[in-house]
Amino acid sequence: MDDAKEKIDRLRKLLNEHNYNYYVLNAPVISDREFDEMMRELQELEEKYPEYTDPDSPTQRVGNDINRAFTQVEHRYPMLSLSNTYSMDEVEAFYERADSGLMGEPFDMVGELKYDGTSISLTYENGRLVRAVTRGDGVKGDDVTENIRTIKSIPLQLRGNDYPQNFEIRGEILMPWTVFEALNEERERQEEPLFANPRNAAAGTLKSQNSAVVASRSLDAYFYYLLGENLPCDDHYENLQRAKSWGFKISDAMRKLKSIQEVEEFIGYWDKNRKNLPVATDGIVFKVSSLRQQRNLGYTAKSPRWAIAYKFQAEQAVTRLNFVSYQVGRTGTVTPVANLDPVQLSGTVVKRASLHNDDIIQSLDLHIGDMVYVEKGGEIIPKITGVDMAARESNILLGEKVKFIKNCPECGTLLCRLEGEAAWFCPNERGCPPQIKGRIEHYISRRAMNIDGLGPETINLFYSLGLVRDVSDLYTLKMDQISSLERLGDKSAQNIITAIERSRDVPFERFLFALGIRYVGETVAKKLALAFHSLEALMNASLEELVQVDEIGERIGRSIISYFSDTENRALVERLKAFGVQTSVSEERLSGRSDKLSGKIIVISGTFSHHSRDEYKALIEQNGGKNSGSISGKTTYVLAGENMGPAKLEKARKLGIEILSEDDFLKMIGKY
Ligand code: IVH
Repeated sequence: MDDAKEKIDRLRKLLNEHNYNYYVLNAPVISDREFDEMMRELQELEEKYPEYTDPDSPTQRVGNDINRAFTQVEHRYPMLSLSNTYSMDEVEAFYERADSGLMGEPFDMVGELKYDGTSISLTYENGRLVRAVTRGDGVKGDDVTENIRTIKSIPLQLRGNDYPQNFEIRGEILMPWTVFEALNEERERQEEPLFANPRNAAAGTLKSQNSAVVASRSLDAYFYYLLGENLPCDDHYENLQRAKSWGFKISDAMRKLKSIQEVEEFIGYWDKNRKNLPVATDGIVFKVSSLRQQRNLGYTAKSPRWAIAYKFQAEQAVTRLNFVSYQVGRTGTVTPVANLDPVQLSGTVVKRASLHNDDIIQSLDLHIGDMVYVEKGGEIIPKITGVDMAARESNILLGEKVKFIKNCPECGTLLCRLEGEAAWFCPNERGCPPQIKGRIEHYISRRAMNIDGLGPETINLFYSLGLVRDVSDLYTLKMDQISSLERLGDKSAQNIITAIERSRDVPFERFLFALGIRYVGETVAKKLALAFHSLEALMNASLEELVQVDEIGERIGRSIISYFSDTENRALVERLKAFGVQTSVSEERLSGRSDKLSGKIIVISGTFSHHSRDEYKALIEQNGGKNSGSISGKTTYVLAGENMGPAKLEKARKLGIEILSEDDFLKMIGKY
């Protein structure tokens, strides 16, 4: 074997090891920077020696854009479901049935969490992942191997050497709560439909036709069932322990339970503690551990007799619907909100709940005064899941059927609904106050133009006084106009003026995002800026040109065209341009060069999170600065990451050298 191949193999092995430490054990032993450097080295070698390409290489876990429908694959062993119960009595009855089915022979039970995601069946041959299939109808499912390969906690190549040549392992694909919440926040900003819960989000993601999207969503997976001819042990619990040693994520919550008392305790413990888990669970699964005993107990038509799922009580309450109000968002979407008699629901008092859209109101046949079920599942906002129909007959407070409003609650304009969309919206973009104010709020927000010191209340004040009617008016504000306003005073007025001034230097891509074009979020804005370089080029782009850009589809393309074909929007951007906002990617940025650090001598120390040390060295040079290895009287700045050595820090302090954090430095070179 030649040197390159050896090096590639070594790096792959190391990276797999670190992936495992990070994603499965949650215990990384090297810094992200070291990991990234190793990954880059491997990428470079693989590019140089394409003959050693391997689909299982850790570099390949980034997904691709190939768009194809999934192939249907028949499961070797059908994917059965479990019988469900909500009551402890039924769990006891199950325990007794197992006991008598086994003719009094002693048996161990295994208690596991019931993960609430979407199930998957993986096939491994000779230690390599060869296929991943969704549950489908239990007999046939979709081949989603490409997507599954992007999930970092799923081993592509197993560890150790005691795994069977051929086996299947089943588990649950999950979207952690934090990822789910961030994803929905982003979708809310884009006014895209929200995922109802992490289960839907995980299932939706897994069926994405674009594995790069899957890779970006940070899914996770827990495994709970091993199948095959030559399994290591005749015991479910032991087999899963082995699977753990091969690199699978097996829940630490799994326990052997030796009596019905232990079963009860297990339920009691998780009923309370499941709320602290990073992923959603909807119950507990109990399984007879011995595979021989499992075979003895056998199956019914749909589910095994050796297992049962105890489901947690959904967090639900019943209360009265008093009235429905309507909220108008930044892009005019009208959202119905149920106003309720206050009710306790998992620790908080709920007074309002989302009704989502007209279709949902219709499907519930909702009436004012109805007793409704409110649930707080995975959702951020509680929602109405049903109506207590039995209570309706004797309901003397029952009022009219809820009819979605026809006119905008804010400006009175007749609402519209686009074909194929569930939402009603107010088309009066220019005259409807919450839309106008919403656009200004979006423009000034931190990730857009970052105009500090202006909150919704100040915007409201400026708007109601007629000082600001659109975002270009911000640039006409004068100190004396606003310092005399109630609650503002000189200092905050000055801060606002300075922040507005500074926003003229905000890079083009963020300005593009700030415009609030429907479907143009941060990522899309960045891609557009890099592809077209200037507002002018973007404004003149055709649909064909727009959809050429990575990740820009027809929906986004049409939205951009429609935004710029509006004469008022064109006039607005012209005004903004005249006020000096950045409407193109700077030469500096394109070439990555500037003289911002000219004459500065910089020492780098410690570890960093945004870029590697080498990247920082390159950035210093690109911006006209000089790197130096040691601190002396000539040093201008120390760029200090984490864990900077105390001796160095002391020396820098003594010499009065300015210490820059990573963020300070990136801001300094205009790269924040
Ligand atoms: S065992 C034949 N164990 O619940 C038994 N299932 O209704 C196969 N699930 O489709 C399933 N956590 O998607 C098992 N610890 C666990 C589970 C679990 C979640 C899901 C799985 C399955 C459904 C059963």
